[in-house]
Amino acid sequence: MGYLEIAKNIFWVGVVDWGLRDFHGYSLARNGTTYNAFLIKDENVTLIDTVVSKFRDPFVANVQEIIDPKKIKYLVVNHVEPDHSGCLVELVEMAEPEKIFCSRMGKEFMIGFYHREDWPYEVVKTGDEVKLGQKTIQFIEMPMLHWPDNMGCYVKEDRMLISSDAFGHNLATSERFDDEVDKSQLFFHLAHYFANIILPFSPNVLRVLNKIKEMGWKIDMLAPDHGVIFRRYASDVLQAYKRWASCETQPKAVIAYDTMWGSTQKMAEAIEAGLAEEGISARILPLKSCHHSDVMGEVLEARAVIIGSSTHNNGMLPLVADLLRYMEGLRPSGRLGAAFGSYGWSGEAVRDIASSLEKMRMEVVDTIRVKNVPTKEEIDQCVDLGRQVGRAIKSASVDHK
Ligand code: FEO
Repeated sequence: MGYLEIAKNIFWVGVVDWGLRDFHGYSLARNGTTYNAFLIKDENVTLIDTVVSKFRDPFVANVQEIIDPKKIKYLVVNHVEPDHSGCLVELVEMAEPEKIFCSRMGKEFMIGFYHREDWPYEVVKTGDEVKLGQKTIQFIEMPMLHWPDNMGCYVKEDRMLISSDAFGHNLATSERFDDEVDKSQLFFHLAHYFANIILPFSPNVLRVLNKIKEMGWKIDMLAPDHGVIFRRYASDVLQAYKRWASCETQPKAVIAYDTMWGSTQKMAEAIEAGLAEEGISARILPLKSCHHSDVMGEVLEARAVIIGSSTHNNGMLPLVADLLRYMEGLRPSGRLGAAFGSYGWSGEAVRDIASSLEKMRMEVVDTIRVKNVPTKEEIDQCVDLGRQVGRAIKSASVDHK
């Protein structure tokens, strides 16, 4: 699709990447993504962000259909990661901008990525303001959402926050606005993006939300660099970010496991039965068919994380090791944990899983391991573990740090 005027003289000039399936280890399954960029047509024409380099032609065509790129006076680089700065070199050559607004780290990254000390960088910080003509933009630093350089800009007259990676979601659609797509699907993708990209930086999210409040900004439109633009659900998105960043969980559990000959699977199902007896909803995620990023999406609101593995070569199965390594990086602390698994002779997997959960500052309720194939009594013990976690979920006063 081509460009779209999303508010008077503010144009979406981004592109839709229908085919993207992996974003550094985060599986986008069937959803793809968008790279959003925005052009403000004012006395001082301003382009905010670019797109990944493989979409240079449609992106430049979008800009050219609105204005001769030579008329662009300001570039705003909210974030230097190549999915947003991939066409920057071409744009600087075409537009010869008077200023390139960026954060202090943005300048450092641009020099690191593009080796151009001579560009007209204008480093800005939170609260700095630039008059474009009829419109005014104010900047807000958003460090670590998702790199140290991220920032956003608020178009005062339109009450629109262009927020870079923050509030993004990987969703390729023909529609450009939140009220044109299914809300539950949209918030599903918003949550999965938060869990896989933003979660480790939750304290920064809370600082940015406070700063938005301090600035007194009213937000009618929230325009992230990935996904659709929020004009109906902007306040719901801000509230969801506050909940997730505050580590608020729901009384539910995730059971993720891998199994060699089916014993660990039987244990997973018995634990789920125990949770159900306590009225706790659980999702069983067999890792042979669930990607680690899908598991993280479910972990986001789960109060308990229960991980199982057969013992393999004196440790856990590779898919379980992969999940825990990925999860440790995303730091979903403040949850309850449990570990389970079968073994043939040495049985280290359960110990290693519990140690990983503790490293993530989860409170391990209990562990269980079974030699070879579980007996009826051992299945009952797994059910009991499920009940025990279920009761802990209901009475949880988990340390949300
Ligand atoms: Fe969408 Fe951090 O790049």
